[in-house]
Amino acid sequence: MRLVLLGAPGSGKGTQGGLLGRRFGIPQIATGDILRAGMAAGTPLGTGARDLVNEGSLVADDVMLELITGRLGQADAASGFVLDGFPRSIPQAEGLDLILKKLGAKLDAVIKLDVPKRVLIARLTKRTSCPGCGSVYNLFSNPPAVAGKCDRCGVGLVTRVDDTEATVRKRLNVYQASTAPLIDFYDSRGLLVIVHGEGTIPDVTGAIERGIRGRVREGR
Ligand code: AP5
Ligand code: MG
Repeated sequence: MRLVLLGAPGSGKGTQGGLLGRRFGIPQIATGDILRAGMAAGTPLGTGARDLVNEGSLVADDVMLELITGRLGQADAASGFVLDGFPRSIPQAEGLDLILKKLGAKLDAVIKLDVPKRVLIARLTKRTSCPGCGSVYNLFSNPPAVAGKCDRCGVGLVTRVDDTEATVRKRLNVYQASTAPLIDFYDSRGLLVIVHGEGTIPDVTGAIERGIRGRVREGR
């Protein structure tokens, strides 16, 4: 199964990407998590991306395409993946087409998570995440069992630098300008599945799975 999760900041890509990855036995490839891990480790990729990520701007398309070419070439992605946060611009989507062509692979579905702006801002300003495994929590809707600790790996939870209200608003504007055009891009290729992302987390997972089944049946 080869999936792309598309949606505004806070729409639930990380949350649903983790669940879908475990459900289908495929890696969740979250470009934001990869960049933040590079920032924490001080790699050249992370150092170059730090200011852009923290201020809510996009990292350059050529840098992201090089990163994703390497990641999709790894053995664990050979039979499928769920992309979370990539592609994020038309040049990235065109680059992904070329990478997949070279690998002899095709996307099965692009899932667009639809959530109203006021809900996105409320969610992101109450989020904590695990710097170890990438699991995502929310003070209100999805708290960890033990306050401040990851349920899956016990690591201390952190608040992202880019989750202040001002930076969230900037990220939403960047999404609208650079990423929202991908909705028409993938709709015109018959890959788009729009899912209402405002229900409970299990409700949204169920809606995504139904959407994928429908899309895979149509695509045969
Ligand atoms: P990235 O890390 O991808 O951030 P984002 O796209 O802004 O999305 P988020 O991770 O904030 O939200 P999400 O959709 O994953 O929601 P989540 O599941 O956490 O990118 C960060 C930065 O890296 C970018 O700004 C850019 O600088 C750079 N970057 C990354 N990829 C790039 C690329 N391809 N090109 C260029 N630059 C790139 O959920 C949010 C909250 O809501 C959580 O608290 C969660 O618990 C809660 N929640 C989730 N679902 C529900 C629900 N159904 N009901 C109630 N609460 C819910
Ligand atoms: Mg995320």
